Amino acid sequence: MSGDLPSAARIISIAEENTRVKTFVLDAETQAQPGQFAMVWLPGVDEKPFSLVDDHPLTFTIARVGLFTRQVHALHVGDRLWWRGPFGRGFEIRETDGVHLLIGGGYGAAPLVFLARRLRAAGQRVVAIIGAKTKTELLLETRFAAMGCTVIVATEDGSAGVRGLATDVAWNVAQQETVAAVYACGPEGMLSAVELLCTGRHLPGQVSREGYMRCGLGVCGSCHYGPWLVCRDGPVFATNSE
Ligand SMILES: Cc1cc2nc3c(=O)[nH]c(=O)nc-3n(C[C@H](O)[C@H](O)[C@H](O)COP(=O)(O)OP(=O)(O)OC[C@H]3O[C@@H](n4cnc5c(N)ncnc54)[C@H](O)[C@@H]3O)c2cc1C
Ligand code: FES
Repeated sequence: MSGDLPSAARIISIAEENTRVKTFVLDAETQAQPGQFAMVWLPGVDEKPFSLVDDHPLTFTIARVGLFTRQVHALHVGDRLWWRGPFGRGFEIRETDGVHLLIGGGYGAAPLVFLARRLRAAGQRVVAIIGAKTKTELLLETRFAAMGCTVIVATEDGSAGVRGLATDVAWNVAQQETVAAVYACGPEGMLSAVELLCTGRHLPGQVSREGYMRCGLGVCGSCHYGPWLVCRDGPVFATNSE
């Protein structure tokens, strides 16, 4: 735990996941639940929340989107990043019969890698459905396979795996398998479809949502989602919490 003040850490490795996304491993560690996030700070630039891909060593997978993430992508091995956390409520692991169905879209796959690692360490069966618009935007699918998860890739244009939405694939899996629990992270449209799946099939589900964060501590109020603060009450919410 780095507390409320940012701690400095050095980047010990950088992996290019695709043309827009890199994974940064830091010479720092913490104790976290999958789904929790840390606030990453570059002095003079900004501070933004990122899901933990691992807590030991501390690892983030970061998509290049705007000013802050462009600056992070310009860093090299040996450069410093500052972080504080972990914050928020992560995924609760249900060790019950059946497969654990993980559904990820975009960098939403990042916290699910951490979750899959914990589930596999607990001897659980994991099916990971990784969705993207097209093959070049697929993210982290090989990490799930390396952990012994069953991986199903879905692309909207059919350039890799099944053509269609990850959530459509999830309906098929839920028809064929006993599902212990559903866990999802990705764009809002995907999360709404996951909620419909969980309601329709009476499955316990948890989804990780985004909010606009400043403090990460439940103080500034910038991350409202309905009656909740995403940084304090989430980012992981049960699908029946509305
Ligand atoms: C709990 C939580 C966990 C997060 N985990 C991760 C993570 O693991 N990896 C990661 O890369 N990001 C993650 N994010 C998002 C991250 O915090 C930043 O918001 C994002 O990286 C953009 O920051 P930026 O300053 O580079 O871009 P900004 O300057 O904020 O955005 C630049 C432009 O891109 C648009 N934009 C912003 N975000 C996106 C997006 N996701 N897709 C498309 N357009 C966008 C904005 O509307 C704006 O027009 C997470 C956010 C939250 C709340
Ligand atoms: S980020 Fe400040 S209250 Fe959530």
